[in-house]
Amino acid sequence: MLTRARIAVLVSGGGTNLEALLHAQESGLLPHGEIVLVVSGTEGAYAITRAKAHGVNAVTLPRKTMGQAAFEDSLTELLELSRVDLIVLAGFLSILSEDFVRRWPDRIVNIHPSLIPSFCGKGFYGLKVHEAVLERGVCLTGATVHLVNEIPDGGRILLQKAVEVRPDDTPEILQRRVMEQAEWVLLPQAVEQLCKQLTGG
Ligand code: GAR
Repeated sequence: MLTRARIAVLVSGGGTNLEALLHAQESGLLPHGEIVLVVSGTEGAYAITRAKAHGVNAVTLPRKTMGQAAFEDSLTELLELSRVDLIVLAGFLSILSEDFVRRWPDRIVNIHPSLIPSFCGKGFYGLKVHEAVLERGVCLTGATVHLVNEIPDGGRILLQKAVEVRPDDTPEILQRRVMEQAEWVLLPQAVEQLCKQLTGG
């Protein structure tokens, strides 16, 4: 059995969810996991600066310039070299191919900023999710942590938390509330839960 599951975090932008994971690790809230690698698919992602500030190996693989196949090949190589057990999509805004996903059954976990099955699927990512929530006029939104698996299994939902939508919200204000009240709390909890299972702890 593993002692600590080796975690890779995939990012695209600001990296506040990565920061929440790093903070959890440093506060002893991730006893069954260890973040060993951060990969950004986008050049200039601030998440990379955050990872380096915490002394974590951080690599950029510019997906758009490389193309999807070369990106996934290089990513696979990095994941294998780092002997990764669990992949966390923390604000990773690109789609991974079915081939890639198939190679990591029950080993990829994603955070989405809505209560799935609402406001998810093609075109729903980042701020766009909160814009759609406000446009629809719902009173509750939230965040979901789920596994990413092949269709038809899709991805089992691991944790969800509801967050209030207020009448004077802007997408940015709502995004911040969902992050603070749901995402930054749920993601470290779910990752620890998975790492515990993987290590048989
Ligand atoms: C987060 O709100 C995350 O849930 C969302 O992007 C943001 C990234 O922020 N992810 C998706 O929309 C995935 N479909 P971060 O880079 O500061 O963690």
